[in-house]
Parts: sequence; structure tokens; C-alpha cells
Amino acid sequence: CGIVGVTGNKDAVSILIGGLKRLEYRGYDSAGIYVNDQNGHDYLVKRPGRISELEAAITPDVHGSAGIGHTRWATHGVPNEANAHPQYSKDDRFYVVHNGVIENYQQLKDQYLENYPFKSQTDTEVLVALVDKFVVEYKMDTKSALLKMLRLISPDSSYAMVLMDRKQPDTLFVAKNKSPLLIGVCDGYNMVGSDALSMLKQTNRFMELEDHELVIVKPDNISIEDFDGNIKHRDTFTVDMDADAVGKGGYPFYMLKEINEQPAVMRKLVQHYFNGDQPQVDEKLLADLKNADHIYIVGAGTSYHAGLVGARLFEKMAKIPTTAHISSEFAYEHPLLSKKPFFIFLTQSGETADSREVLVHVNEQHWPSLTITNVDKSTLSREATYTMLLDAGPEIAVASTKGYTAQIAVEAILAKALGEYLNYDEAKNFDLKNQLGSIANGMQSIIDSKDDFQALASHYLSQPRNAFYIGRGIDWSVSLEAALKLKEISYVQAEGFASGELKHGTIALIEKGTPVIAIITQDRTAGLTRSNLEETQARGSNALTIVARHLAKEDDTVVIPDCDPLLTPLLSVIPAQLLAYYTSLGKGLDVDKPRNLAKSVTVQ
Ligand code: G6P
Repeated sequence: CGIVGVTGNKDAVSILIGGLKRLEYRGYDSAGIYVNDQNGHDYLVKRPGRISELEAAITPDVHGSAGIGHTRWATHGVPNEANAHPQYSKDDRFYVVHNGVIENYQQLKDQYLENYPFKSQTDTEVLVALVDKFVVEYKMDTKSALLKMLRLISPDSSYAMVLMDRKQPDTLFVAKNKSPLLIGVCDGYNMVGSDALSMLKQTNRFMELEDHELVIVKPDNISIEDFDGNIKHRDTFTVDMDADAVGKGGYPFYMLKEINEQPAVMRKLVQHYFNGDQPQVDEKLLADLKNADHIYIVGAGTSYHAGLVGARLFEKMAKIPTTAHISSEFAYEHPLLSKKPFFIFLTQSGETADSREVLVHVNEQHWPSLTITNVDKSTLSREATYTMLLDAGPEIAVASTKGYTAQIAVEAILAKALGEYLNYDEAKNFDLKNQLGSIANGMQSIIDSKDDFQALASHYLSQPRNAFYIGRGIDWSVSLEAALKLKEISYVQAEGFASGELKHGTIALIEKGTPVIAIITQDRTAGLTRSNLEETQARGSNALTIVARHLAKEDDTVVIPDCDPLLTPLLSVIPAQLLAYYTSLGKGLDVDKPRNLAKSVTVQ
């Protein structure tokens, strides 16, 4: 979910709506705002659906100089108007927006709110009902009531919340635990938001919040204290990002724009990270990595898939055992760890709760860590020992494209730098700078033939319910990402499969017309994967191939340029991205905002 709040600006409504539009990547199944004009008028507007539907429901009389807004990705309760935020107390005095999950909400309900007239199925309504009860029945002031409520929330819960009290209409009461939230320091007024982007039109000066702090935001003052009332001093930091980089730039969908940006991202990474032919990486980071006996790469979704590729790079270039892990699994059941672990967090957004849960544990153990992220000063970037940035520019489409390729490129840069630092010939001979340059050109040539992919998508993928991507080794890693793209945006049930494993069970699913797409880029396994593909054809599949040029045969479907065998994912994933895009487009779906998903998931 995404949260935004503002106090001290008479255009509160447009600031909130603008902020929510930029937060829509965090969820888009319902939205709402509450605004107050400080003269006794206040307004609550909520709608199921997208921000555009909320915007359409806001009549001209709705105005205010302070308010809060929310865009939701449902956790408790279906996405309808009653469950949309802001949630409010029974006498319409307190309003709250919340991102996270209150794990003990049922217990709090049973213990304190037995006869309370709840209007929604959300855990959030319990928060506002508790404040209401403590103020009305226990005669507490709002701040004390809020503190009491915050102390009752179980520590495993996550929340970022902003509460407003109709009787103190210029004040935003702000608190967080685990979920992200930033204060935006504006000229003559102040803001709060789930990320910097949501406030970038208004300011580039921010204050970060720590867990278990209460922040009182007024138009001309921001005060931060811990739950025991100790005042905390906080410096501001600036974020250097162009608010206008967030447009579609003439493309029908962000996803197509972002696919197209990949060659430029590769070139930008070369500029950022190379001095001559030498990769430039923080020496302290290299020293910490050198000291490690095992590298654990942790990520979710597409980032996990980029980690699978990265693990190979680190093992080949730096000869340090490296494994990639799904963060939500690793958080609660990790393998027996080595004595000197180093953790690399891959997270495009820098906010994924599953990944952060692992980082919290890593920090408790004082293990060194690196976050590779696209968002400077994001939560995982702030909390890890080191950060490397992806330089990919904002990625808005829910299905990640340039985030994936940028992550692999940065992993390659780090692996080469580390291997050189450790004096390995494999790393010294790895001509990465030139490779990335020619990969950028190779990506461009694939993108230039995008019409071919539109035709392939409409012919092979528009009808079937399911499809397979297959490959071996690094091609298998890419097939997982390729299948995820297709699933996410076209709703074709797709599986990425180790091609040799098909015959041990999964081949039973192949029917006449099932699309099976083989990724073939590696000399050692090309013949084997082709045989596996033929085995599916013998059972009626529609076979397609994505093949590196030097391995291509006459009737291959898609031929991609050659590159270093460790970097082929940077090229072989592009046809898969385009096939997913055109399949979704052909079905008339919302490519950028597929159902049930959010770009950044800040709950576990
Ligand atoms: C969400 C998105 C995925 C993304 C995953 C991890 O589930 O829908 O596209 O791969 O989060 O996101 P991160 O920001 O940590 O890379």
C-alpha cells in the first residue's frame, strides 16, 4: 500500500492525488483521501479501483489544507469502499491510513473493542477504534492515546501509519515499524509519504524515520520522539532525482518504455562503474567480501531470479561459494550458514518486506551486507552496510524488466572487481566493459525487431492456458524469469523448467499445441536442450527457440547476438519480455498494472 499526507498547503487535495498516482505501484485495488480545511469542514472520499476512479469521485467542493491519502493492496478484507483507507472512528473524529499488517488485531479487538461498531474487515480500523476509545473513555489526549495504542501492537506487526484528529486538524501523527515512511520537508508546509517519489514534485528534502518513533508533523514544525518521550534529532537528506523522469515518454505502456531503456541502462552502468577498463567498487566492500567464505544472495520475485545468475558470476570470477535464496523462505528457515557469511540483497525497490526481514536478522548478527537497489536511501539501502545503485531510472511497470538486467550487470561488475581484487585470471580476462557495450547494441537489435514478437505472441501465446520455458544451467535461470513475465502480465500459466527434468514428470502436461520455448545459449548443453525440446514436440508441443547466434540452426525462431557465456541472460531475457508484453497487449490487459499484484510489497 502507499501512503501520503500533507499539512499547511491549501492544495492538499491535488498534492494527495498527485502523490497517490506516484504510489500506485504499491497497490491499486482501492484508494481514498481525507482532507480538512481548518475551518470546520472536512471530507472523506474513498473508492474501490484505481486512483483515477477516486479522482473522478472528488467533487469541486472537496478542499483542505491538511489531509491523508492511501492506495491499497488488500491484505485483510476484499477491496471495496468500506475496506479502503482512510479508516475512521465511530464518531468521525479520528482518521488513519496504514500500510502493513497488525498481527494481533483480533486479540486487540476481543480485549478492548467488544461492542465497537466496526464498518470494515480491516485490521486498520482497530487502530483508529483504539485511539478513539482511549480518548473518549480513558480521557487521554490524542498523543497519549496513540502511544498507548502503538505499545499494544505486537512486535511482529508491520505498520506505517498517519493519523489525523479532527480536533487538531493541522497535525499529522506519524509512526512506523518495518514498513517504509519518509517525512518531506517543504517550503512552508510539510509532507509524509511512503517514498521520496511521491513527494518529489513538492520537495527533494527528506527526513528518515526509525522504527518505534512517533512523529508530530505540523505546517511549520516536525518533532520526533521515541515511545518513551525522548526527543530525537534528525538531519535532512536530499534526493537527486528528476520528478519528470516518471512519464511514459510517448509509449503506450511503461513496460515497453522500460524494455526500450535497457540498452541505455547498460551504457550508463559502464559510465558509472568503470574507470578505463577497471571496475570501480568501494575497496572496503571488496575487503569484506574477500573475507567471506560464502556469499548469500537474497531477493524476491524477479530479483531472486537475477540472484540465480549472480551466484554463477561470483563463483566463476571470485571463486567464493555463492547461493541465491528466496527472501521469504530464508527469513524463517535458512540453511546452515557458513562461519563468515556475506549477504547481498537484490531489491529493485529497496523496500520489499520479505527481504528486509532477512536484513534485520543479518544486522542483529553484525554480518556485513550489500544492497543492490534502484532506489537510493530506500530502507534496505539505508540499513545494509553497503549500497550499489542500479542507475536504471524509475521502474514503474509492475513487471520488472530493466531492473532485472541492471541487477545482473551490477552483479557482473562486482564479481569482476572482486575477482581482480583476489587476483584471479578469470576476472582479469573478463572483458566486461566491452561486453556490456556490445550487449547494449545486441539488446537494441532485438528490440528493433519487436514487430516479430508481436506476431509470435499472437500466433503462439494468445490462446493456450499454459506454456513452458525450458533451458539448462544459466538458461534455466532465465527461463524462470521468462515464465514469470508471462504469468504476471498475460495470465498464461507458465513454468520455467530445467529441460532435462521434464521427462521425470512434467512432460505429462504437454498436449497438442502447448507452447514450449527453449532458451539455448550454452555450448555444453545446447544439444541436450534441443533433444528435450524434440521430446515435447513428439508429444504435440508448439516448439519455439531463443538461440545464441553461434548455436543457431535454420529453423530456430529467435536468434540473439552472441556474448560472453556468463552474460547471455542480458540478451536472452529480452525476447521473453517482448513476448510477455505483446501477449498481454493482444489480450487487451492492463500491461503495467496486472491484477492482484503490486510493484513493491511491503508486507510479509
Ligand atoms: C513484487 C513485484 C515483482 C518484484 C518483487 C521484488 O512482487 O511485483 O516484480 O520482482 O516484488 O521486488 P524488489 O523491489 O525487492 O526487487
